[in-house]
Amino acid sequence: MLRPITQALICALGLSITTLVQAQDPITIKFAHVVAEHTPKGQGALLFKKLAEERLPGKVVVQVYPNSSLFGDGKEMEALLLGDVQLIAPSLAKFEHYSKGIQIFDLPFLFDDMAAVDRFQKGPGGQKLLRSMEDKNITGLAYWHNGLKQLSANKPLRVPADARGLKFRVQASAVLEEQFKAVRANPRKMSFAEVYQGLQTGVVNGAENPYSNIFSQKMHEVQKYITETNHGLLDYMVITNTKFWTGLPADVRTELEKILGEVTVSVNQQADALNQGDKQRILEAKTTEIITLTPEQRAEWRTAMQPVWKKFEPEIGADLIKAAQEANQAP
Ligand code: LMR
Repeated sequence: MLRPITQALICALGLSITTLVQAQDPITIKFAHVVAEHTPKGQGALLFKKLAEERLPGKVVVQVYPNSSLFGDGKEMEALLLGDVQLIAPSLAKFEHYSKGIQIFDLPFLFDDMAAVDRFQKGPGGQKLLRSMEDKNITGLAYWHNGLKQLSANKPLRVPADARGLKFRVQASAVLEEQFKAVRANPRKMSFAEVYQGLQTGVVNGAENPYSNIFSQKMHEVQKYITETNHGLLDYMVITNTKFWTGLPADVRTELEKILGEVTVSVNQQADALNQGDKQRILEAKTTEIITLTPEQRAEWRTAMQPVWKKFEPEIGADLIKAAQEANQAP
């Protein structure tokens, strides 16, 4: 029979061993996303894992879940808030319930090219949007590029009238819905994981995606035409749960932020090459004709879609839209 004092000692020892073991347990960061690994976001998530585990050995473990394998895009934000996933990078089209300002990135024909997007994201307007959801326990850590979107369909789209009456898959974004209504097409909201099948079965006739998403989801196999419109942006915000992030040990958080900075530079430098490589692969597959617009045809699309800006100006803010337009001017 153990004497009470011995029992108490054993208990205390047991407790402190448990605390010690717990203190040494690595922090697990689940990073979920909806795209394939060979895409800008897919590569970024893997590089983040590699660098975090190399530089914080035993302290941090990163588990990456691509292709909606943990959460699809209808669920990932909720999962982040519940603490079931620690990092996600939804496209900027998927934030309208959390920050009206972020809708700016969906306005058609707003940015002339990715350099302009970069200038706006790095400027005061873009940086403010990263912090615009902290009252909702969401912290924006970085912007990652994918690139500009192209229209696809089973008929050639050269002028806006060609899109009339067609059903286009859109992300969960009121701006993107209005963009298609502006050319008298029918937008249908659909999660990313369902797009291939939606196109294959004719639930939708067309879509808008950067080349990397078209190729990695094999959408070119079910779309005969892609029109190189470059009409809108598909970029991402890497976000975390604010309470989780601020609760990390300071040294770990600082290192992870440094790593994310490096990963961001790498993703944003390589996204364009990845998209151009996938454009070539689509051409080589010979399933799909890629249509280049004349400047006059492209201007027609812009004229038809641009009224959407005015519709969303009260929600987004005229100043922010002005700042984005100014980013089109190279310094
Ligand atoms: C989409 O739903 O089309 C995109 O947001 C997918 C992605 O994450 O690139």
